[in-house]
Amino acid sequence: MNKTDDIEVRVEDVWKSFDRGRIEVLKGVTLLVPKGGIVALCGTSGCGKSTLLNVISGLEEVDRGLVSVSGKNVVDERTRISLLRHRIGYVFQFHHLMPDLTLLENCMVPVIAAGGNRAEGMARLHELAKTTGVEHRLGQRVRELSGGERQRGALVRALMNDPELLLCDEPTGALDEKNRELVFDLLLELVRARGRTLILATHDPELARRCERCVRMRDGRIEGEGV
Ligand SMILES: Nc1ncnc2c1ncn2[C@@H]1O[C@H](COP(=O)(O)OP(=O)(O)OP(=O)(O)O)[C@@H](O)[C@H]1O
Ligand SMILES: [Mg+2]
Repeated sequence: MNKTDDIEVRVEDVWKSFDRGRIEVLKGVTLLVPKGGIVALCGTSGCGKSTLLNVISGLEEVDRGLVSVSGKNVVDERTRISLLRHRIGYVFQFHHLMPDLTLLENCMVPVIAAGGNRAEGMARLHELAKTTGVEHRLGQRVRELSGGERQRGALVRALMNDPELLLCDEPTGALDEKNRELVFDLLLELVRARGRTLILATHDPELARRCERCVRMRDGRIEGEGV
């Protein structure tokens, strides 16, 4: 697993603080995830899960340490943008869909940004929306959708370009139990069928157990493995 080619995500001794170093959030995190790995990040609120996902995606810069995705160093801005457009799908903790656009328009944004084919994008959108149960809501503005519909919509958007790496921050947090199972099953199925890599932050031990690995974080450090 240490062969460079097999590693999709490499985080080495990463430090990240906010407020000019006054708030230290990541304190020497090292995490290697091979291609096709399915990893849950667990730990109490505030331990740094979302921040770690943000530095992996390149949305947050690190103070120190190394982050690379598919062998590309996530430091250079052009690399970061290219990774986010073409290789990384991100389901944010608070969905970040644009409220005044319809769900369909939101989901087509990544396709357009990546210069993809619109007809193919629309076909994929309908397929993904159908499997996640939001097809009938595609024409609706996001601000009119329920929390669960927004979350499922955010998952659809993240999957539009069939990303090699999917980062999910509490992807089922706004769903009831039945839908949580449905969406999580679907997520695992999609990721496994295509050999994609998944890193997800979750508070839910049941979901964490169903991942291949569960990495426990505590106060900005990796504490160990297992739920
Ligand atoms: N932009 C920021 N500026 C200042 N502090 C921040 C910023 N982002 C995160 N933090 C702080 O960093 C710590 C870790 O936040 P983070 O969102 O990574 O935690 P988390 O493990 O995802 O928590 P939760 O389970 O509640 O989502 C928190 O104390 C938070 O207040
Ligand atoms: Mg979080």
